[in-house]
Amino acid sequence: MAGPFADKEIVLGVTGSIAAYKACEIASRLVEGGARVTAVLTKNAQQFVGPASFEAITGRRTITGMFERLETPEIEHISLARRANLFLIAPATANSIAKAAHGIADDWLSTTLLATRAPVLFAPAMNTHMYQHAATQANIQTLKARGCYFVGPGSGALACGEIGEGRLIDPPAILEAANILLCEKKDLAGKKVLITSGATHEPLDPVRFIGNRSSGKMGRMLALEALRRGASVTVVSGPAHVPLPYDAAVINVKTAQEMLEAVKERFAEADIFIAAAAVADYRIDNPAEEKHKRNGEALTLSLTPNPDIAAYAGIQKRPGQITVGFAAETHDLIAYAEEKLAKKNLDMIVANQVGGENCAFGSDTAWAWLLTPGNPPEQLHLIAKEELTGRIFDAVAALL
Ligand code: C5P
Repeated sequence: MAGPFADKEIVLGVTGSIAAYKACEIASRLVEGGARVTAVLTKNAQQFVGPASFEAITGRRTITGMFERLETPEIEHISLARRANLFLIAPATANSIAKAAHGIADDWLSTTLLATRAPVLFAPAMNTHMYQHAATQANIQTLKARGCYFVGPGSGALACGEIGEGRLIDPPAILEAANILLCEKKDLAGKKVLITSGATHEPLDPVRFIGNRSSGKMGRMLALEALRRGASVTVVSGPAHVPLPYDAAVINVKTAQEMLEAVKERFAEADIFIAAAAVADYRIDNPAEEKHKRNGEALTLSLTPNPDIAAYAGIQKRPGQITVGFAAETHDLIAYAEEKLAKKNLDMIVANQVGGENCAFGSDTAWAWLLTPGNPPEQLHLIAKEELTGRIFDAVAALL
């Protein structure tokens, strides 16, 4: 099955938190993404959710106790501990974290956690004071020092009526963390990747702007792929329609000039710079400080060219630093892309055919070519953007 979790064996440990119901959605998304999921409910979790829901979602027997009669030997704890690619404990209570930190093995989940060599990812959920308690914090540090991973918790209204840290972080963040952990290729470990993403909005007055339809999808997927492969990622993002990965450092900007300033501050420390933003070519001269009033007369706007951020990177780059740009064209794609590669002094350009079916802005697929100086263009045909980001970083890693 295709998807971000294709062919992965995942044990989903659900412990006794009010957030346990959210584990159904997590299980469902994992299965949808191609994973084989075995849900394990602790005794306390069963006060909140039942095994039937997880059985319907995963198509597998849910484990509810250490000594139940197992129908299939595949969920016997040692064999599952051996085969699992990931143990995801979501929600993870203070008690389940404490037991794991101290090696207590008094039920199926805690016992199997001792037996597995697979990565373990905890998504904590508890009252703020419980989370902040020195004992819980020490337990988390112990587990981290042993190589376990944590995602969240988030902040907000808690079931106990308090507001603060301790909420189970949203399922998309948990799935993203699992996706990053499950990627075995870590060829960008230790590398710093800086990405521009999204559109820019150039103000006309305090309420109006000139913008474009960039969704920010490409920037999001590039950031996620770089994280999966072990890089630390900073995204300078203009307005976009999709959220950026939780593990990326995000600097939000509106205009091309703000984007350039944010890139200038961070460019020197980046190993890889990718200009994926759809930067407005022009900005409006002297935007009005007050809202423009309609008076029935024609309005003429005077436009000034914006700075070219990719070209700035091409001028500033030091030996060993890799810069990548995009070219989206409706015609003469390769010729224009080759011209940009040279003019902006880039190490690679991703050329996209725009217009026509399956290759419009905002689409999940692209007709793409990879161009590097001195080499014939590499045609990738119609490719899912997720796969495209993999090919882009393969090519970048070869250049490093
Ligand atoms: O010149 P053109 O806009 O077609 O080039 C596209 C590439 O240059 C993209 O990688 C885009 O992110 C980058 N670019 C930029 N700053 C601009 C214009 C484009 O970084 N002002």
